[in-house]
Amino acid sequence: MADVAVVTGGAEGIGLAIARRLAVDGARVVIADTAVEKGEAAAAAIGAVFARLDVTSEEDWADLVAVVQANGELRVLVNNAGVNPGPAPLEELPFEVWRRVLSVNLDGAFLGCRMAVRLMKAGGAIVNVGSAAGVRVVGEMPAYVASKAGLHALTRSVALYCGRKGLGVRCNAVLPGSVETPMVERLRTGTGDAAAARARAASLHPIGFVGATDDIADAVAWLSGPQARFVTGALLSVDGGLTL
Ligand SMILES: NC(=O)c1ccc[n+]([C@@H]2O[C@H](COP(=O)([O-])OP(=O)(O)OC[C@H]3O[C@@H](n4cnc5c(N)ncnc54)[C@H](O)[C@@H]3O)[C@@H](O)[C@H]2O)c1
Repeated sequence: MADVAVVTGGAEGIGLAIARRLAVDGARVVIADTAVEKGEAAAAAIGAVFARLDVTSEEDWADLVAVVQANGELRVLVNNAGVNPGPAPLEELPFEVWRRVLSVNLDGAFLGCRMAVRLMKAGGAIVNVGSAAGVRVVGEMPAYVASKAGLHALTRSVALYCGRKGLGVRCNAVLPGSVETPMVERLRTGTGDAAAARARAASLHPIGFVGATDDIADAVAWLSGPQARFVTGALLSVDGGLTL
């Protein structure tokens, strides 16, 4: 039976780079995303399978189980799907926006972890895509920051649970700094001067540049593979020193 790797939010950006990398490494990859056209095109391009999944929907996760089982055995889950509505004054942040961000970034990862722990009877690896923003907080992004800090805590809790129960499931998180993706491009465009925002982002990172999607994919591939067999509950910063 093939080893299946599910990547949520794999239609573009960091998720697509992760999906491509895991496919190259030999996994049967399922790209699970709300963006159907983009997701189908991405899956076709890298030899993966596409499944429509809204990570906030318990029903969609239940439907995904059948897709996974039709393709093999779940060995890797990457909870990558996330939203960031951008900076806004706290006083003006609508409650619906707060709830939407928490729902996608945190509820979605919980539902994913639960499915993975149920399915990974022969062991496996969960990798959550957190954020440097969950550590080095941003005052104008309370929902995003709280959702990622929550995701980091969820990662450690799931790791402890699976370890103590002897389930053979490891759970870790990668915490990216700024990475060139459509999400970041949208945020920069929102500032009115994308070029200045790009230069400012690079200068914030002690290493002097922002990351590429493959920088994150490499870390996820390592955390999900056998070379990380002794690593669980880790929050791995891949952020050019942003959180130092
Ligand atoms: N880009 C960065 O600089 C950066 C930094 C730190 C953390 N991250 C995290 O990395 C992850 C990927 O970010 P990105 O920059 O590639 O974003 P992106 O917006 O470029 O891509 C996100 C993908 O997630 C999908 N998605 C959104 N909501 C979904 C839902 N409810 N269900 C399923 N799929 C959904 C989108 O359709 C899209 O394909 C996110 O969790 C983000 O918070 C990104």
